[in-house]
Amino acid sequence: MTRETELAIKVENLTKRYGELLAVDDISFAVGKGEVFALLGPNGAGKSTTVEIINTIRKATSGSVTLLGMDVTKKKHEIVSRIGVLPQGFSSFERITVKETLQYYSRLYCGNHPDIDGLIELVNLTDKAKEQYKSLSGGLKQRLGIAIALVNNPEVVFLDEPTTGLDPRARHEVWQVLQGLKKEGKTVFLTTHYMEEAELLADTVAIISKGKIIAMGSPAELIEENAKYQILTLQSVDEIVFETVRKIGFEPVLTDDKNIRIRVEHTEDVQKILSALKDAGALYLGLDVRKPNLEEVFLKLTGEALHYDTAGEGGAK
Ligand SMILES: Nc1ncnc2c1ncn2[C@@H]1O[C@H](COP(=O)(O)OP(=O)(O)OP(=O)(O)O)[C@@H](O)[C@H]1O
Ligand SMILES: [Mg+2]
Repeated sequence: MTRETELAIKVENLTKRYGELLAVDDISFAVGKGEVFALLGPNGAGKSTTVEIINTIRKATSGSVTLLGMDVTKKKHEIVSRIGVLPQGFSSFERITVKETLQYYSRLYCGNHPDIDGLIELVNLTDKAKEQYKSLSGGLKQRLGIAIALVNNPEVVFLDEPTTGLDPRARHEVWQVLQGLKKEGKTVFLTTHYMEEAELLADTVAIISKGKIIAMGSPAELIEENAKYQILTLQSVDEIVFETVRKIGFEPVLTDDKNIRIRVEHTEDVQKILSALKDAGALYLGLDVRKPNLEEVFLKLTGEALHYDTAGEGGAK
């Protein structure tokens, strides 16, 4: 059990209504200091509402939130100087350079982070320091947004969908920056609808759907508890493969790229399928057996796929 003093965030029975709409429905969780916590859920699940209540921007309808030991409704002023925020859909001054932007925000925060060049280096923008915001690509803009969130050397950093809309390469570059924050021991509260992001970065993932947290744990725990099976993928199959697998009692699923995926409970099932295919003379190019991922856990728990935007790494598979 984590001691109260080791907690960065404690949320108890948090509820938020917008008129008739119940956006956040009685959620509770705690985030330890130095932990990377991800709130994973589809559009409209209540992620931003939750983040913005914790970081003092919005007001809860009921419930309590303690941040760095302080009640967020009573100590807003003390709290904001110790946290950093990258809001969803962040944007900055078009014609101001990277360095000028950070110098400006640093002054705004009373210059608690004098090492602007170090900060620029931390987010890998050293060779862009003299470029105007408007000339940066989406990934670079987000990295500047992360640097702004770090300008006051905060203890807790809130990043609301830091990689949404980025192409896979830009997303990986942002992930590298976030892994750097993790190494520095910052507490990071991340929201995302990319399960790879949560799986790669987070110590704890809370899956949120329709305002409720429906599962919480480390990525490995979530997979272990909710998906006690393996996935066998057979590549470039012919029609006989599909039929043979179906005939011996499994439920093959044909994917867009002409592979089939089969859920198997035991390793012996893999043996059984492969020998049936051999007997039938069915052809496939390769195979792979893997554990399910968070996407499959989410599908199982909610019956719905996580939303992917078109710039993401492919649609829901
Ligand atoms: N200020 C507001 N007034 C009224 N309804 C709101 C307001 N902000 C959010 N909502 C609604 O509350 C629900 C949760 O919204 P929220 O923005 O917290 O979700 P989200 O998980 O961040 O979604 P997204 O992935 O699209 O950012 C949605 O149905 C949204 O339309
Ligand atoms: Mg949001």
